[in-house]
Amino acid sequence: MKAVPFLLILVSSISARAETFGPYLGDVTRTSIKVAWRTEIPSNSVVEVAPAENGDFVAAGGTDQETLQHEVLLTGLDAGARYRYRVRSDTGGATVFESEPHHFRIDGGPGSPFRFVFFAEVHENSEVAGFDSVVRAFDPDFQIQPGDNVDEGSELAQWQNFFTRGDWYGDLPLFNVNGNHNYAGNGIDLSTEVLVNPGNEFYYSFRYGDVLFLGIDSEHLLNDEIRDNVPPWLEKVLTDATDGIEDPVFIIAFEHIPPWSSCTGSCALRKLVENPWVRDELVERFERFGVDLVLNGHDKIYERSLKEGVTYIQVNSGSGPYDVDPDAGFNPYSQVLVGDGLSMLRVAVQGCALRFEAVRPDGVVIDEGELTGRCGNLKSSDEVVIGDSDDAGIVEAGYFADHNGESAGGCSGASRSASSGPYTWILAGFLFPLLLLRSRTVFFGNILINKGDST
Ligand SMILES: [Fe+2]
Repeated sequence: MKAVPFLLILVSSISARAETFGPYLGDVTRTSIKVAWRTEIPSNSVVEVAPAENGDFVAAGGTDQETLQHEVLLTGLDAGARYRYRVRSDTGGATVFESEPHHFRIDGGPGSPFRFVFFAEVHENSEVAGFDSVVRAFDPDFQIQPGDNVDEGSELAQWQNFFTRGDWYGDLPLFNVNGNHNYAGNGIDLSTEVLVNPGNEFYYSFRYGDVLFLGIDSEHLLNDEIRDNVPPWLEKVLTDATDGIEDPVFIIAFEHIPPWSSCTGSCALRKLVENPWVRDELVERFERFGVDLVLNGHDKIYERSLKEGVTYIQVNSGSGPYDVDPDAGFNPYSQVLVGDGLSMLRVAVQGCALRFEAVRPDGVVIDEGELTGRCGNLKSSDEVVIGDSDDAGIVEAGYFADHNGESAGGCSGASRSASSGPYTWILAGFLFPLLLLRSRTVFFGNILINKGDST
């Protein structure tokens, strides 16, 4: 008889903990950042900050209004500065949540080098936590994801899993757009409540360094407002970005649905209804205005494509994979295809040079390349020379190691095409004789292909 109340208390405690998570970050600018967390009990919101290395914490923002979902905007921060922060929630004189100290870094503005990481298809796979050491070694400024962060956007426990599975969420602001699983179970309201993004949170732009980023919810079949409002918004923001006034050096878009991909089966059938709108309304503008890089998810493979000067990269950081068939004709623009395993992208930007590497959780690089932006849009007249990427990767070579802009960056030409590093060819050379001995199914499940330019 006595065991029953104990059991009830235990279950209640576990349930309550599942609804507490954070802190996490979003919407970082040159002077501000948003800090968010969730508590299982309505309580107030307190954020304290301190200099990055030493010094006392001081109250920086918050509210006495008691809530479950906490979101505090910190303003008046110094561009390019790094801070420590911690959060706390109290109610009735008792503290219900208190975080460990974390760090964030503020955008340094035009001329500042920076790094970001890109994850996709995290879903409910705990293996994404395997990227922890890769992320820490890279020391990025923020992260981007194109949705499908969870299986069911309506499940609060899944969001708790999402924000606690990766060690980096407390330190890296997340810029996210919705995928179809954010809408699952009528989950878009909870997704929007939990996630922290700029503007209306569905489609938005932001500048970081000399780069314009476009976050686009591409779920036009699930949300009529996306179908109707994104095209005119995209037309305007790209017109402004290319009008000769304060134009960015790079334009990078991220949205859930890749316009082309080599996945087959149900994945390919789905594309018949999903992709025409993406191609007609998004890709047409990406090409016409010269977007440099588009980051996607959804198809659970790694693939880099190139069409009309626009590079498309999709990664799979936590689920799948789908089957792939490079000969099926679904993606004539494929440059590099890796059909299985988890992947994420790390990107370093300095001057008019952008270097990217696709990596496994163990740090093995499966693809790499460089893009050159609009060098004429740089404010500085300093000539920059691209790092010696043939020698080693971003981390190993200390590429862009100095976050304050003292190291070399790149501006070696006007081409916007990506150039593959030697790794792809070396790996392909080792794999090809082996792959010839394998069955077709296994062959296409593991192959890494480099087709060269095929615009
Ligand atoms: Fe998806």
